[in-house]
Amino acid sequence: MRQLNNIASIRQAIREKRMAGLRCVLVPTMGNLHAGHISLVRKARELGDCVVVSIFVNPLQFGANEDLDSYPRTLEDDIKKLQHEGVELVFAPTANEMYPNGQHQMTRVEVPYFNAILCGDSRPGHFDGVTTVVCKLLNLVQPDAAVFGEKDFQQLFIIRRMVADLSLPVDIVGAPIVREPDGLAMSSRNQYLSSSERKLAAALSRVLHETRDKCQSAGRNPDTWQAAKQQASTVLAEIGFRLDYLELRDTGNLMEPAADSHELVLLAAAYLGNTRLIDNLCFSIEP
Ligand code: PAJ
Repeated sequence: MRQLNNIASIRQAIREKRMAGLRCVLVPTMGNLHAGHISLVRKARELGDCVVVSIFVNPLQFGANEDLDSYPRTLEDDIKKLQHEGVELVFAPTANEMYPNGQHQMTRVEVPYFNAILCGDSRPGHFDGVTTVVCKLLNLVQPDAAVFGEKDFQQLFIIRRMVADLSLPVDIVGAPIVREPDGLAMSSRNQYLSSSERKLAAALSRVLHETRDKCQSAGRNPDTWQAAKQQASTVLAEIGFRLDYLELRDTGNLMEPAADSHELVLLAAAYLGNTRLIDNLCFSIEP
């Protein structure tokens, strides 16, 4: 495995892999790798012969009052995990390498509307930071495919939209959410939870599953869906969550379900103390 920190050297390394006829698959991350990230690496292995993992805590996607400084940075450990997975290339640039002209005058890639709903409503600028860095990473590595987790459902949706809108020559592949045994979706931010918060945190996925069951057994009955959502919000608030949103959307367009929507997703973001957790659950409604 080679670890490269600058753009010229990752480009050269990729060129060599391509010359050797290898199919390259990129897994973008911010490091502090857990089993969720490793599942993406394994998916990438299925899709190609050269797996490239980027590790970059992207300052552009953090708001002024967010956790950029405290975000866990564990490069040495991450490298060991990736070595164990047989990853070929790791790209771990500095912010200066990625944004040599500074962050404020940096050209940005934005996916309008979708960058401002759900998580984008409470994290203005976040998705623009994500699409900008992902677009740049796709340009640097020029992979045949790139793998993203469904854990960040809106992020995956927005990246697919960016790739379609800009005709970027890459397949975007989604991978299922990896959860802790009690159902909590794995996240680098889970370690911010106190032990009592950690015990409560599993309720987020439990409530999403209960809400899905109610919606599915009600069939196409928007009044019941609304009631189930409302009940879920009440239950989460009683447990101690400060809810940012809990919404039911069509997976195809992230809009409220229409009369002919089949594939739905429940999406939630909620705080426990200062920690913001997100989760989602996809399901079908029979026509
Ligand atoms: P990060 O939070 O490090 O996540 C990297 C990738 O791992 C994302 O595609 C995310 O959806 C996926 N992932 C995280 N937790 C997961 C879980 N429990 N199960 C499955 N997949 C999971 O997302 C980012 O970084 C950044 O926004 C990035 C795309 C790298 C751009 O900076």
